[in-house]
Amino acid sequence: MDLREYIRSIPDFPKPGILFRDITPLLSNPDAFGYAIDEFKRTFAPTRPTAILAAESRGFLFGAPLALALGAAFIPVRKPGKLPYKTRKFSYDLEYGSDSLEIHVDAVGQGSRVLLIDDLLATGGTIEACAKLAQEAGAEAVGCGFVVELSFLDGRKKLGNYPIKSLITYDGET
Ligand code: PRP
Ligand code: MG
Repeated sequence: MDLREYIRSIPDFPKPGILFRDITPLLSNPDAFGYAIDEFKRTFAPTRPTAILAAESRGFLFGAPLALALGAAFIPVRKPGKLPYKTRKFSYDLEYGSDSLEIHVDAVGQGSRVLLIDDLLATGGTIEACAKLAQEAGAEAVGCGFVVELSFLDGRKKLGNYPIKSLITYDGET
């Protein structure tokens, strides 16, 4: 299946000059959505993750079904002030702006094998924040998966030495 057929490209959203890769057609097609989750499962099952860590909000869409498919914990990483218990925080730069992300202090720790999942790899700020939050807690990052990678933004440079899988890669506007 060619998942590209389920990505809609929207020029000048959310700002002039940004070509937004819209995953909603993929989400609305159960065959395509299921295929994406199966691809992640097939790729990452051998890494034996104990937890899937994904950032609010679009990361949840893929992280949660994958956690169930792999029999792993789902760990939400959230924007500041949303998690009710004690948190650790990491600040990062985004493709357009900057932000912080938080995780519960007891969500992962020594012995956790964490798989990082997000819908999109752009500059890598978001996923780097997720990796740092996991590693500062003593967990090991065992892999990283994206539905879409914008390879021309070089986000991979911010990632570590573990398997990285993108289901769709755009190296430019086409
Ligand atoms: C988007 C996207 C990724 C991130 C990628 O999230 O879902 O998480 O940007 O960009 P980066 O690699 O440059 O960090 P966004 O912060 O827009 O929030 P959302 O998931 O809640 O829509
Ligand atoms: Mg996001």
